[in-house]
Amino acid sequence: MLIQSVIVFSFLLVASYASVQDFCVADLSLSDTPSGFPCKDPKKVSVSDFVYSGLGAAGNTTNIIKAAVTPAFTAQFPGVNGLGISTARLDLAVGGVVPMHTHPGGSELLVVIQGTICAGFISSANTVYFKTLYKGDIMVFPQGLLHFQINSGKGSALAFVSFSSPSPGLQITDFALFANDLPTEIVAATTFLDVAQIKKLKGVLGGSG
Ligand SMILES: *[C@@H]1O[C@H](CO)[C@@H](O)[C@H](O)[C@H]1NC(C)=O
Repeated sequence: MLIQSVIVFSFLLVASYASVQDFCVADLSLSDTPSGFPCKDPKKVSVSDFVYSGLGAAGNTTNIIKAAVTPAFTAQFPGVNGLGISTARLDLAVGGVVPMHTHPGGSELLVVIQGTICAGFISSANTVYFKTLYKGDIMVFPQGLLHFQINSGKGSALAFVSFSSPSPGLQITDFALFANDLPTEIVAATTFLDVAQIKKLKGVLGGSG
């Protein structure tokens, strides 16, 4: 009986050592991988790896979309590496918009702190779900789906978003189509948009071709 207990206890110790790692703070000097950054040596980890003070100030919204997304992803906040979470601050000036975009790596939860935001997403069945959100409202955007946020109020708007990934990624549809050198005839053939409209958007967003 005693021997059996010792064997079981030893097994539990081995099992817990094998399966539990408290954290894996990103070693940003190495490259990201599909399963996150390699871990920083735990002896070099300090509390500053688990605290990020970059979301206290409004982002600069003097830009074409009149909006600023200030991320606290692994690159800015290495403590979230491996934890399946991250966050960002979203500032929308009057008339600001986060254009149609996706996060390939994670679902998003948005909390409105100030102002009025019209937000929505489009399912893979092409059904649209959108609503005007007010202070205190929250909305989720499932992983990988196209979605947007528009400041539909008379003043500036502020929201915080969190993600089910430490590196959710961001692809803005208009930038993907019009901010690079994909030839205009290919954009036209694959979107059915007019060449003139494509050239106009390439001009605005910095694309060529
Ligand atoms: C905000 O961005 C604009 C455009 O890049 C720039 O001219 C301006 O100086 C920036 N403002 C601040 C406070 O950084």
